[in-house]
Amino acid sequence: MPPLARRSLGGVGWRVPISNDGTMTIIKINAITVPKEMGDEVGHRFAARAGAVDDAPGFEGFELLKPEDDRTQWLVVTRWADEASFEAWRGSESAANAHAHGGTPHGEAPPRPMGLTAELWSYSVAVTSTGKGSGV
Ligand code: HEM
Repeated sequence: MPPLARRSLGGVGWRVPISNDGTMTIIKINAITVPKEMGDEVGHRFAARAGAVDDAPGFEGFELLKPEDDRTQWLVVTRWADEASFEAWRGSESAANAHAHGGTPHGEAPPRPMGLTAELWSYSVAVTSTGKGSGV
């Protein structure tokens, strides 16, 4: 559900994120610790897999956030229609494909696992506000 379709329940400029059908998006953040010396390799790997999750039922989108300060945690911020959709994806072939280390379509050597550590954070959107600079 795109943010624009959301109903405004608060005052001017403050919107409570409840979609028209009454359901609420849930946010699952995978915080992956990537040592600085690995550079942008993790970004390249995500770019190569970006479409892998698009068809999962209830999937609403993701962003990979790269740290621009001294932190080493990259954040995969994923949005889902509900908890069940996320759990279904986690156990699915689609999730396995997104994390597979098989060969590439171009016959290059398969990418080796990067040996990363990660932790999963669960959030809901409490308040949203769209700035005038967004062009909306
Ligand atoms: C909240 C949902 C997610 C969870 C819980 C999760 C889990 C993980 C974990 C535990 C790692 C680090 C260990 C490893 O290398 O396998 C990782 C890395 C990675 N994930 Fe995810 N992930 C999520 C979402 C996604 C999505 C949406 C994509 C892209 C379609 C994706 C693609 C990748 C890629 C490319 C890596 C880099 C690892 C490598 O190639 O070695 N992940 N993920």
